Amino acid sequence: MEQGADVRNRIARISAHLNPSTDHIQVEGSSSLWRADCRAKGGSPGFRVAILGAAGGIGQPLSMLMKMNPFVSVLHLYDVVNAHGVTADISHMDTGAVVRGFLGQSQLEDALTGMDLVIIPAGVPRKPGMTRDDLFNINAGIVKTLCEGIAKCCPKAIVNVISNPVNSTVPIAAEVFKKAGIYDPKRLLGVTMLDVVRANTFVAEVLGLDPREVIVPVVGGHAGVTILPLLSQVKPPCSFTQEETEYLTSRIQNGGTEVVEAKAGAGSATLSMAYAAVKFADACLRGLRGDAGVVECAFVSSQALGLLSSQVTELPFFASRVRLGRNGVEEIYPLGPLNEYERVGLEKAKKELGGSIEKGVSFVRK
Ligand SMILES: NC(=O)c1ccc[n+]([C@@H]2O[C@H](COP(=O)([O-])OP(=O)(O)OC[C@H]3O[C@@H](n4cnc5c(N)ncnc54)[C@H](O)[C@@H]3O)[C@@H](O)[C@H]2O)c1
Repeated sequence: MEQGADVRNRIARISAHLNPSTDHIQVEGSSSLWRADCRAKGGSPGFRVAILGAAGGIGQPLSMLMKMNPFVSVLHLYDVVNAHGVTADISHMDTGAVVRGFLGQSQLEDALTGMDLVIIPAGVPRKPGMTRDDLFNINAGIVKTLCEGIAKCCPKAIVNVISNPVNSTVPIAAEVFKKAGIYDPKRLLGVTMLDVVRANTFVAEVLGLDPREVIVPVVGGHAGVTILPLLSQVKPPCSFTQEETEYLTSRIQNGGTEVVEAKAGAGSATLSMAYAAVKFADACLRGLRGDAGVVECAFVSSQALGLLSSQVTELPFFASRVRLGRNGVEEIYPLGPLNEYERVGLEKAKKELGGSIEKGVSFVRK
């Protein structure tokens, strides 16, 4: 009898732990414990961040790394599967952020309410032989629904879109926000950081440098030829032979495919992507905090700063170096002097990018 009660108590504790919506843990023979009292305290002062698609290949390591970020005080993990399992796991990390899990559409609004930054890695990844555009039919709808939730529950949040095809999903998000009357182009950013991370690594390999010392601007978009590394603007200043330029440009543009093929059907880049997403989210949070000189590449609206940004290209969205601040994108830098190889690459990139942007816009307007 005694033993049976013990077992029931243990099961009650475990199931309450795995399901955060069961806030009240009643343990026989002891005083009752409210989860909010024992877990939702001690959070460091900082920002509230939601990850949508938190149980996925990118979402899980991204959630773990954001739990380690000292600027984050509250971390909301949302997914349509396994959100509570990932939350229980990550919540045991002894870092400052308080973690809460949200499962399924009915909990989306709770996941989003009050957030400062929303990161979206929800959706399906590529399999060998697929382009990012092949993901459009599924991911477009997912991003649209999630952005409708953002428009309703945290319209002032900074939004980082990871779901592919980024060249179309960012325009989709913009159209949803416009429809809801809350669009602020400064707050919507497509995450192209992985292209920069790869470019820094591959260029450092060729130059025999530490990748942490190398900065390669990558502009355009986030698919194939739209990924345009500006090798003439690498820091520290250096030069490349034509053969090196072609090798590096091709490897940077096809870095994602390299991983998709190596994983042979088990998904696309997840770990390096989570690293890149956190590097980018951290920059956004430092900007929100008011740090000076936070500059990263991102796929943003060319209207983010009105006429000023027409210095970049005539396209409505383009990835370029941007300065991040309290309002999101505070400045969009011009492309700077391009060499002949980059000028040809830019024309190719613009041609493909225009179609992808239009596809995203018409998906919402249709
Ligand atoms: N921007 C980039 O540089 C970059 C790099 C790599 C991958 N990606 C993209 O990121 C996305 C995710 O990749 P992954 O490898 O993590 O995929 P994954 O399939 O491992 O994970 C996706 C997660 O999204 C969840 N999800 C599906 N529909 C959802 C919805 N409506 N609401 C909330 N969550 C939902 C799934 O349950 C899953 O947990 C893909 O679109 C992929 O192409 C982007």
